[in-house]
Amino acid sequence: MRTGTVPGWTPSREHAVIQRAGSLGSQHLVLVGMMGAGKSTIGRLAAERLGRAFLDSDAIIEGRTGRTVREIFAAEGEAAFRALESAVLLEALDSPQPCVIAAAGGVVLREENRAALERASARVVWLCATPSLLTERVTSAGHRPLLDQDPSGVLQQMWIEREPLYREVADAIVSVDGRSVHDVLEAVLR
Ligand code: S3P
Repeated sequence: MRTGTVPGWTPSREHAVIQRAGSLGSQHLVLVGMMGAGKSTIGRLAAERLGRAFLDSDAIIEGRTGRTVREIFAAEGEAAFRALESAVLLEALDSPQPCVIAAAGGVVLREENRAALERASARVVWLCATPSLLTERVTSAGHRPLLDQDPSGVLQQMWIEREPLYREVADAIVSVDGRSVHDVLEAVLR
């Protein structure tokens, strides 16, 4: 697998896909992508720029359960976490006000979530980063228990499994590698 570039991505493709996505109007802006792609950072900034509420699915789960993502994984297992993740995503997509939603990396795993993203009045932007960049960025600390062992290997494997799923739900693809936060934000807002 190539790790230096995102398979299938070219600047002209990004531009074409962004043009197809058109203007946001009253739709939600949903950011999807792997852990470490920058969904929370870019999402918060995009929400400020658009004057919208920012919903971060992991933060909502933690606020609501009073437990960290790590504690939920440890006490109840991944399946229980995925159920909470789905509930929070569906609820966020149902918000009457258009929001910016940072959807946790695993939301694309469930078919029901992908269908909800397809159905919702939302533009879905995939923040697409290569596994090598993600490995540089993420640590196993905090809310990413899946990276406790062999983060590089886990991210490579996740990329193989999830890349077609992110592609399936995306209205636009924004490549993150080699770009500043400012540049990624402008591409998302365009
Ligand atoms: C996960 C991503 C994490 C968090 C959990 C599982 C995943 O969120 O929900 O550790 O399976 O990709 P971020 O994408 O915000 O890091």
